[in-house]
Amino acid sequence: MSEATATIPSSYSLEDLKKLTDSDMLRVNQVITDDLASEVVLINQLSQHIILSGGKRLRPMLVILAARACHYQGDEDALLAAVVEFIHTATLLHDDVVDDSDMRRGKQTASTIWGNEAAVLVGDYLYSRAFQMMVRAQSMTIMDLLANTTNIIAQGEVLQLLNVREPDTSEQKYHEVIYAKTACLFEAAARIGGLLGKVSNSQEQALQAYGKHLGIAFQLIDDALDYSARSEELGKNVGDDLAEGKPTLPLIRAMEVGTESQRQLIRNAIESGKIEHFDEVRQIIEDSGALEYTLDQARAQASAAKTAIAGLDDSEYRQAMLFLADYAVERSY
Ligand code: IPE
Ligand code: IPE
Ligand code: MG
Ligand code: MG
Repeated sequence: MSEATATIPSSYSLEDLKKLTDSDMLRVNQVITDDLASEVVLINQLSQHIILSGGKRLRPMLVILAARACHYQGDEDALLAAVVEFIHTATLLHDDVVDDSDMRRGKQTASTIWGNEAAVLVGDYLYSRAFQMMVRAQSMTIMDLLANTTNIIAQGEVLQLLNVREPDTSEQKYHEVIYAKTACLFEAAARIGGLLGKVSNSQEQALQAYGKHLGIAFQLIDDALDYSARSEELGKNVGDDLAEGKPTLPLIRAMEVGTESQRQLIRNAIESGKIEHFDEVRQIIEDSGALEYTLDQARAQASAAKTAIAGLDDSEYRQAMLFLADYAVERSY
């Protein structure tokens, strides 16, 4: 075990993390509320519905933690944290349209209430608002980073679309998608903290690596939870990935190691994008060890995330980042 992992007390909890970031997250929420406003009533209704409905706020928290771990004292961390949450929320609005999902953050999705058109357009509103906001930080490096990140996310979503209903999607292709659609934003969030703190190149790279591994772990668990969680706890419908014909790692692995008939059942489910055999598929994923395989990969990524920041100055913020890596894997929603 690396030195870094050894420094989290076993009693460390989500409550400790919340206490540590409470006042900073209040600043973030203030920026979010101030900058959400529009003269168009529908934009306010729809954007408030999704953004004030209690997401975990992990990505903005990551900006804050990384900035604090890098001894940043200003207030642009809150602005950029809000930018990152806006970008994330825009992707969720679009994602729920593409995935035809009707539950998000424990509520009906915006697309279900206001329709796909409105959800897509307000997603665009949030994206463009995020760009207006990031200009205020007056850092060409950060704008460059976020512009590239947003572009990679969009590419990731399209790559994923190309894999839909494609049972021959390889593990490598799957990893390309989850890096682009999810890990890339975590990577940027952590790196922004370092840029604000004006750390050395090597420390910036360490933060970037931390964010990337954390983000990959996070999406691996998201994909596992889509088969193993309860909808009420998850705040989203389980089974949405199968209903969409999305070849995520639990399915890819189950096809690799399952019996011929199990493999065929999963292939058919992916090709048809139908949920009728969900319970059987779920059982195969468990019995074949594919769920455990996915969790193992997530654990390895979380551990790589922790190792990446072993060289950062020890602080309660770095400790919280170490905790966050474990939380990404152990979470149930
Ligand atoms: C959902 O992200 C999208 C994924 C990348 C899996 P979160 O699980 O962080 O969603 P919220 O913000 O907490 O609702
Ligand atoms: C995450 O993928 C998509 C984004 C990065 C927007 P999912 O489609 O698995 O996310 P959820 O499960 O709907 O939150
Ligand atoms: Mg989705
Ligand atoms: Mg998901």
